Amino acid sequence: MATLFIRNLAVVIIISFFSSLYLSVPSLASSDGFVHCLLQKIPDELVLTQSSSSFTDVLVSSIHNPRFVNNATARPLCIVTPTDASHVQAAVRCGRAEGIHLRARSGGHDYEGLSYRSARDGEVFAVVDLGARLRAVSVSVDDATAWVESGATLGELYYAVAKTSPVLAFPAGVCPTVGVGGHFSGGGISIMSRKYGLSVDNILDAKLVNAHGELVDRAAMGEDHFWAIRGGGGESFGVVVSWKIRLVEVPPTVAVFAIVKTVDEGAADVISRWQHVTPRLPNELSIRVKVRGQRATFQSLYLGPCASLVPIMSSIFPELGMTSADCREMSWLDSVAFIQFMDLTTPVEALLNRTTSLSTYTKAKSDYVRRAIPKDVWKSIFSWFAMNGSDQMLLEPMGGFMDGVPAAATPYPHRAGVLYNIQYITFWFGDDTAAVANRWINDLYAFMEPYVTSNPREAYVNFRDLDIGENAVSNDGVSTFESGKVWGEKYFAGNFERLAAVKAAVDRTDYFRNEQSIPPLPVEIK
Ligand SMILES: Cc1cc2nc3c(=O)[nH]c(=O)nc-3n(C[C@H](O)[C@H](O)[C@H](O)COP(=O)(O)OP(=O)(O)OC[C@H]3O[C@@H](n4cnc5c(N)ncnc54)[C@H](O)[C@@H]3O)c2cc1C
Ligand SMILES: *[C@@H]1O[C@H](CO)[C@@H](O)[C@H](O)[C@H]1NC(C)=O
Ligand SMILES: *[C@@H]1O[C@H](CO)[C@@H](O)[C@H](O)[C@H]1NC(C)=O
Ligand SMILES: *[C@@H]1O[C@H](CO)[C@@H](O)[C@H](O)[C@H]1NC(C)=O
Repeated sequence: MATLFIRNLAVVIIISFFSSLYLSVPSLASSDGFVHCLLQKIPDELVLTQSSSSFTDVLVSSIHNPRFVNNATARPLCIVTPTDASHVQAAVRCGRAEGIHLRARSGGHDYEGLSYRSARDGEVFAVVDLGARLRAVSVSVDDATAWVESGATLGELYYAVAKTSPVLAFPAGVCPTVGVGGHFSGGGISIMSRKYGLSVDNILDAKLVNAHGELVDRAAMGEDHFWAIRGGGGESFGVVVSWKIRLVEVPPTVAVFAIVKTVDEGAADVISRWQHVTPRLPNELSIRVKVRGQRATFQSLYLGPCASLVPIMSSIFPELGMTSADCREMSWLDSVAFIQFMDLTTPVEALLNRTTSLSTYTKAKSDYVRRAIPKDVWKSIFSWFAMNGSDQMLLEPMGGFMDGVPAAATPYPHRAGVLYNIQYITFWFGDDTAAVANRWINDLYAFMEPYVTSNPREAYVNFRDLDIGENAVSNDGVSTFESGKVWGEKYFAGNFERLAAVKAAVDRTDYFRNEQSIPPLPVEIK
């Protein structure tokens, strides 16, 4: 091991030497010094340099979007795979001492890849990869809480909770390979949000390594800092190692359905109706809509039996034509697998599969709708889904619990009055189709402008989109408030300035930063 490490280090020094011919900052000494510093504090097998045999495998292991796989310019200097919070502390302390910035990665699902690549030419950085080995979940049934490490996936969390108690659950996203660390940092929209809110509405405590390299919990970090990490976006406020969550109650069996309507069957009319109906549904019932090609799929979870769901649907939303033949009862955990995989044969253990497919390139954007979109416009929207480059649009209903949470209670501001969130996604398979796909999503986003929120046009930080703005960095190396405001008010509305004030208080010199991290509030604005 020791010889291997010395050989690796020699290679690193040579690589650093050549790359330093092209990159002026930081210097050779700091990259070299960073790795030296780390190796004095943590076991060498937890530090992977570019020459380590497993470097590429670990780097690629949780990448969800091949756009950023074969991109040599954007590779980290090294990857730290902590098994303990003290290793994260060492990375922060060495990084600060040697002038190397860190990018925290949990599930690697960031839509712009910011957890493992830099969009800035020549930036040298290291990755702290919590997904590799920090992913324990410990459930306490007595008080319905759990501690979950940031590197766990949502699938691992759901599985651990439901296998401990079939009547406990947690509200978070549908996709099982998403990481807890990034997801909780940005909010966490769930198919149970109408009943239980976002993931961040159910977080009780956290352990975080701050910009001084200290490990702090809620009491030690203080309420402002704790407020900021529950929805203010990943990276900006330190590395969250683990979270204490409040589990929510679900019945032993829940009801699900998925009903498809094609355009010929009146999909535009039914979606148009759905917008008016969804706020009136009981909070226990959520119906999301997936638009793809000339069809809309209405996917639903109801925290109750089919015997009460069917009459609710026929009285409030008869246009969908749901009958008891559409309804299936199953455990909550089975419903998570059913909604993700859309079949009844995939075992729940598939929720533990961390392997992501790298076959499709992705770009996503988001919007919020507060006023129902006219039926005629829905007809036009479907014509976008007959074009080359089109993929899908997901409508996630809000209301219920979400309406009762003040916009400033957490950094996530899209609360009272929001009918639903829209996520636009395009996929492509290689360079020849990239331009068509990107043009399609940009043109559709432009088309939608009159029908969605404005001033600001609200967007969801967890559906990260660098097109809405990127930080500029001042001469002293700090992200500027003015540049951050451009994208920041879209994600955080009136909460952006408070986030910037917290940033100034906990990380004034902007150690934790990326292209869309919260900039520190300048002294003159305070
Ligand atoms: C297929 C798919 C389905 C999705 N479904 C949903 C959904 O249903 N609901 C929803 O709300 N969102 C959904 N998302 C979005 C998802 O919530 C975000 O992409 C989320 O940020 C991913 O978290 P991660 O840990 O996997 O990502 P990462 O890429 O690891 O991190 C994302 C950001 O957070 C930072 N970060 C990561 N870990 C930490 C940490 N421990 N401490 C501090 N900062 C950290 C990173 O530096 C990066 O800036 C989906 C995304 C995908 C790709
Ligand atoms: C690397 O990624 C950036 C940002 O997406 C892109 O502009 C650049 O062309 C990519 N480089 C390579 C070699 O693929
Ligand atoms: C895990 O998921 C990957 C990607 O979807 C798939 O190729 C693989 O077969 C799955 N593994 C198992 C054991 O199901
Ligand atoms: C989509 O692309 C194919 C192949 O380039 C082309 O033949 C077809 O006409 C296009 N369809 C539309 C609807 O633009």
